[in-house]
Amino acid sequence: PFEFKIDSILNLMTLEEKIGQLNLPSAGQFTTGQATNSDIGSKIEKGLVGGLFNIKTVASIKEMQKIAIEKSRLKIPLIFGMDVIHGYQTTFPIPLGLSTSWNMEMIEKTAQMAAKEATADGINWTFSPMVDISRDPRWGRISEGSGEDAYLGSKIAEAMVKGYQGTDLKQNKTMMACVKHFALYGAAEAGRDYNTVDMSRTRMYNEYLSPYKAAIDAGVGSVMASFNEIDGVPATGNKWLLTDLLREDWKFNGFVVTDYTGINEMIEHGIGDLQDASALALNAGVDMDMVGEGFLTTLKKSLEENKVSIANIDTAVKRILIAKYQLGLFDDPYKYCDENRAKSEIFTTENKAFARKVSSESMVLLKNENQLLPLKKSGTIALVGPLANTRENMAGTWSVATEQEKSNSVLDGLKEVIGDKANILYAKGSNVDYDLDYEKRITMFGKDIPRDNRTDKQLLDEALLIAKKADVIVAAIGESAELSGESSSVTNLQIPQVQKDLLNALLKTGKPVVLVLFTGRPLAIVEENENVPAILNVWFPGSEAGLAISDVLFGDVNPSGKLTATFPRNVGQVPIFYNHKNTGRPLGNKEGKFEKFRSNYLDVRNEPLYPFGYGLSYTTFSYSNLKLDKSSISKNEKINISVNVTNSGNYNGKEVVQLYIRDVIGSVTRPVRELKGFKKVMINKGKTQTVNFSVSIEDLKFYNYNLDFVAEPGDFEVFVGTNSDADLKATFTLSN
Ligand code: IFM
Repeated sequence: PFEFKIDSILNLMTLEEKIGQLNLPSAGQFTTGQATNSDIGSKIEKGLVGGLFNIKTVASIKEMQKIAIEKSRLKIPLIFGMDVIHGYQTTFPIPLGLSTSWNMEMIEKTAQMAAKEATADGINWTFSPMVDISRDPRWGRISEGSGEDAYLGSKIAEAMVKGYQGTDLKQNKTMMACVKHFALYGAAEAGRDYNTVDMSRTRMYNEYLSPYKAAIDAGVGSVMASFNEIDGVPATGNKWLLTDLLREDWKFNGFVVTDYTGINEMIEHGIGDLQDASALALNAGVDMDMVGEGFLTTLKKSLEENKVSIANIDTAVKRILIAKYQLGLFDDPYKYCDENRAKSEIFTTENKAFARKVSSESMVLLKNENQLLPLKKSGTIALVGPLANTRENMAGTWSVATEQEKSNSVLDGLKEVIGDKANILYAKGSNVDYDLDYEKRITMFGKDIPRDNRTDKQLLDEALLIAKKADVIVAAIGESAELSGESSSVTNLQIPQVQKDLLNALLKTGKPVVLVLFTGRPLAIVEENENVPAILNVWFPGSEAGLAISDVLFGDVNPSGKLTATFPRNVGQVPIFYNHKNTGRPLGNKEGKFEKFRSNYLDVRNEPLYPFGYGLSYTTFSYSNLKLDKSSISKNEKINISVNVTNSGNYNGKEVVQLYIRDVIGSVTRPVRELKGFKKVMINKGKTQTVNFSVSIEDLKFYNYNLDFVAEPGDFEVFVGTNSDADLKATFTLSN
């Protein structure tokens, strides 16, 4: 019956109204791209708008919806989108940080909570999850995804879609998700945002596509096309991508939206003028045009000139109407506009408590010499660094609904968690920024931590003064929020020099130093790893940052995060990732010694600084007794794998037990190992837990040269352990 309803609406629509449904302007309350200007109210009235984004609050959204419902001819409700990426006002760690929790249940709940808060504020559609695999920390948007691994990325994609959409979009506490950026956006050449992507189909299918597919299999309602080209055709106009793969092979039946001015950008790509680009996009499978108004201004002409068909326009309109129907907007266009919900369901005590837990579970302990951490809640602590006393930076990139001043800074957190048990001294120590050149180059967003009026020397002297009085120094340094995220690509992966100088000066005092590292990307911190006794990577932890950091620093929470993107030794190693190919000339030694005529560098060893899956705990875990219940399986059988994990240290703690498999011989070359399972388990000190995995033929499949998804008989190696370097090994065979 609902198809009948959609068809009957379609029959009533003029061509202009149909094209209007495909138009998604930015309402301009805030901006997530180049600012645009258009007379939205009168366009809505004329039926020339399908939805709006960059608008929030019940009052503002209701006002717009009222125009559509009361003043437009057909009273078709608007859909309201927003970049609800890692929480709404209650903000969780940046997505890269969320992924390092390896806790799927928790990640799903973050999306569920984000949906609950966003829908209480009028939003019903989020431009999330972002599932772009990236192996390149130069790319600022690596912060928005789940890292380098497609298996883990797929699990997270699924969890997030389920969290946002729930089982029933009709109820008003869930919202429609939009998987993005389809596809391969994370593989931009040289890590420069919006740059060209070019890769083989086998790499694409085996290493990049599965997270998008996982989101679609989980029922995601919409897909956002990416800015980059694929095989020389921009994704926004790529029919192979948006129709053959997405709809025919993967059976996606929701709607496709462009990214911000994605159609217009095809002019710069060199595809043609706005009319050509818009027709190409529609014919490729785009349904909704974000911001650029290419559809709005050219589709009528293209129809007259037979460059597009009315059938294609109708199909796109239907998909948008169906989405609105699925959201229940035809039954009640104001179902997300409840002032009472807005007052009582956003940034609640309960939500904040959960965010605090999530943040602490996402932090990755990179180094802890002589068990410097956890710190005692006593004595004198010097808190130093440009990120120590700022609330503005805690939520990180894409946190458009966060009220920054309500976040807690590291200083706020320390004070609250320690109370009067210890003495806290604070000094800024340095500015955050790179250098003057950076200052000159950054124009769009401005600087997110204003430069201090004092000179570098004055700042440093003040820090050294308090450092000398302290028993321990906590240095909160790294990137500020704007140094990663969209349009924040870099070629230098080191901590900004001015902060390195500060850190070195602090180390020279001889006092123990804990580095609390803020970052939206893997950084090259070889020097810090060598010289600083303890390093806690906190990413951008979200609105409860300070409390969560303090929980970990003082041992109320034992860190359990594990990296999901490799930390390189230097930028020259990039792209660097654990599931690389062996090559015909792999290195013959494990010590990283240079070997002539083998695949390695003269100046740096091949191994990264910290591998994928790496992360320490305040306790230690030892692995033993890796067992496979069979040495050979046929295609209908499963193999059960078990391993004993012992908490051999002094704290109760959580461990992410990781399973990797190597397909020894393949018809196309296979990675040296691939993640095929993981379990996050809580093990009390002194206890041993047996952790079980089950592997079936599905887990052994890959795309061969003809892009058939196959498992090839032969030998497989199994590795289980605490990170991707795990060397506890067993083997089995897949028989014919
Ligand atoms: O959703 C985003 C996208 O990730 C980048 N460009 C702007 C979109 C809408 O804000």
